[in-house]
Amino acid sequence: METIKITKAAELKPHPAPETLVFGKTFTDHMFLMDYHTGQGWHDPRIVPYGPLALDPSSMVFHYAQEVFEGMKAYRTPEGKVQLFRPYENARRINASCERLCIPAIPEEDFVAAVKALVQVDESWVPDQLGTSLYIRPFVFAADASLGVHASHSYIFCIICCPVGAYYPEGINPVKIYVENEDVRAVRGGTGYTKCGGNYAASIRAGERAEEQGYSQVLWLDGVERKYIEEVGAMNVLFKVDGAVITPKLTGSVLPGITRKSCLELLKSWGVPVEERLITAQELFDAAQAGKLEEAWGSGTAAVVSPIGELAWGEQKVTINGGQIGPLTQKLYDTLTGIQWGTQPDPFGWIVPVE
Ligand code: PLP
Ligand code: COI
Repeated sequence: METIKITKAAELKPHPAPETLVFGKTFTDHMFLMDYHTGQGWHDPRIVPYGPLALDPSSMVFHYAQEVFEGMKAYRTPEGKVQLFRPYENARRINASCERLCIPAIPEEDFVAAVKALVQVDESWVPDQLGTSLYIRPFVFAADASLGVHASHSYIFCIICCPVGAYYPEGINPVKIYVENEDVRAVRGGTGYTKCGGNYAASIRAGERAEEQGYSQVLWLDGVERKYIEEVGAMNVLFKVDGAVITPKLTGSVLPGITRKSCLELLKSWGVPVEERLITAQELFDAAQAGKLEEAWGSGTAAVVSPIGELAWGEQKVTINGGQIGPLTQKLYDTLTGIQWGTQPDPFGWIVPVE
């Protein structure tokens, strides 16, 4: 990548008080931009003041949603240093998403260098209160001014950042989730394993209905047989059943979450039996009826490790661990956040400092 050109904002915005942070509402002073044109490749990496983009109304992204994104965080350690969690995993995943959407790959080193450079420029925005972090949203979209349905010849790679607290207003308190029986989010062969905006567009209706009924999000079933559990709106799901942890295997319609992967690696290192396999909703509710569904939680960058206190499926409702966070969920939360915020050792080498 060429040298990143930095243009500082003339006026800096006031930082919100950490206790008032709402997910994804306040953005930092700068953003990263880089352009792509066929024949030229990625060029003109730059950091500029945060602000609106001027785009032709016919830009392909508006019509055919040729777009992918990532979600990652920068954390402030007790010593005041800033660090990233497994950023090369995000780099690899955005390229897997790009490949599916016919978007040119971004070299992994360039992706991480761009994230680091922006976080460095906006370093003062990385909050230091317990449970807060700087959420980083890299995204790439098709910029050709054209209504023909084909791969664009020009793209923009942009990164924006926002200081965040807990994703759910519940914080670490258990959330309520219901199994979605009508809408489906993704099917094998589609884009479910990618982080493309279209997946989220398809999920909004079910999410709105769930919220109206007092649930945080929905638990998606597979789009073909509609019986296998897949994931939640912004999290993968893991269940402790009869002493073992089970989680849906990555069949192509589930996002390969980096937090999921980290949870599985931690669990294995603790000697907890782990199974990645197909799980039907029926099996889960049967386990709950038999008193064997001991814990349930979601995993995601924004949501971290989020206990699920209640699961509903049609008329059936089950409360998990008395609606309280379970001991294994708590241990995962503590260990993962300990590594991320630098209050615990990092035995797996997951942390990348921002110098
Ligand atoms: N599943 C979906 C649909 C998501 O949007 C996310 C969030 O990124 C996840 C799972 C969790 O992925 P990760 O742990 O990489 O953030
Ligand atoms: C994340 O956890 O990073 C996500 O991208 C979830 C988001 C859709 C809010």
